[in-house]
Amino acid sequence: MRIDRKEYRTIWYENNVVKIIDQTKLPHKFIIKELKTVKDVVNSIKIMEVRGAPLIGATAAYGIALAVQENHDPEFIKISAEQLVQSRPTAINLKWAVDRMMKKLSGINSDQILDIALKEAKEICDEDVKFCENIGINGFKIIEEIYNKKKSTVNILTHCNAGWLATINWGTATSPIYHAHKKGIPVHVWVDETRPRNQGANLTSYELNEEEIPNTIIADNTGGILMQRGEVDMCIVGTDRTLSNGDVCNKIGTYLKALAAHDNEIPFYVALPSSTIDWNIKDAKDIPIEKRNSEELSHVEGVDENNEVKKVLIYPKKSKAVNLAFDVTPAKYVTGLITERGVSAASYEGIKKLFK
Ligand code: MRU
Repeated sequence: MRIDRKEYRTIWYENNVVKIIDQTKLPHKFIIKELKTVKDVVNSIKIMEVRGAPLIGATAAYGIALAVQENHDPEFIKISAEQLVQSRPTAINLKWAVDRMMKKLSGINSDQILDIALKEAKEICDEDVKFCENIGINGFKIIEEIYNKKKSTVNILTHCNAGWLATINWGTATSPIYHAHKKGIPVHVWVDETRPRNQGANLTSYELNEEEIPNTIIADNTGGILMQRGEVDMCIVGTDRTLSNGDVCNKIGTYLKALAAHDNEIPFYVALPSSTIDWNIKDAKDIPIEKRNSEELSHVEGVDENNEVKKVLIYPKKSKAVNLAFDVTPAKYVTGLITERGVSAASYEGIKKLFK
């Protein structure tokens, strides 16, 4: 998708380094950063220069390739894989991508190991682009249906950033929106600010602006009243881990939006590639929920009148804060899962029908 009218992907390999868009600097500064070692990759995922489940997975895949580039020793690659998997706990795509890379490299000691690793990491990226594009094609039909009934702008609420910046291209939740916009359906997006890190305001609104899609940032608590007033036609969110029973783990606050949507009979869709399905965990209580530094709550970053980035404390100095990064929306509140293979019910039977 575009930034300043130029097409980008969120990650690529060039001249022996991995290049990423540093998302901690957006929307105020657009900086392309180079990751040279697997240690750089682990750090980049931890501090969220790259974030969003599919992009975390793709970056970890390139992390394995960089480990191979640094040192062919299988023990070094194995330890690197473990460090990558531990860099963030909730998004299943991370482990999925590392496992896939390790399987591909298993038993290969030849001079070709780096080429094979790089090819597989690129394959993971290309596949994600295709999957996200298909999510868009499948989700577009839902938006089109609402438009055909309503015959006026379709208002879509989204939470966090499940846009192209969270993937390689297209996004998951935003892909149907981009497809609708390209096909001339008038859409407007309510963008949840998404405290504490403001991925909605800083990233989703930013990327929608670059694609010239009408959008309005709202405080996270505003969605409820907008739904009661009939100003939301549907919700689409992404996910970091969806269980095979249809329970959806996503950015903190998603659950409350799903409850409000349910109470107001507003369709609540979750968009995801199959790499986000966790086929092992059966009970949502077993999903590892990331607890991040409380400084993400107590401090806020922005630019001053001189365009200098400043970080300020907004809480009483003595106050404690807790920063849980994700919550789980039970399947019963999810209208459907929009995947690369089609739209399914959020249930074991529904998911199994698409992914046999
Ligand atoms: O903490 P983040 O910014 O990595 O969380 C991202 C989300 O919660 C997204 O909704 C999810 O990863 C889906 S991205 C297509």
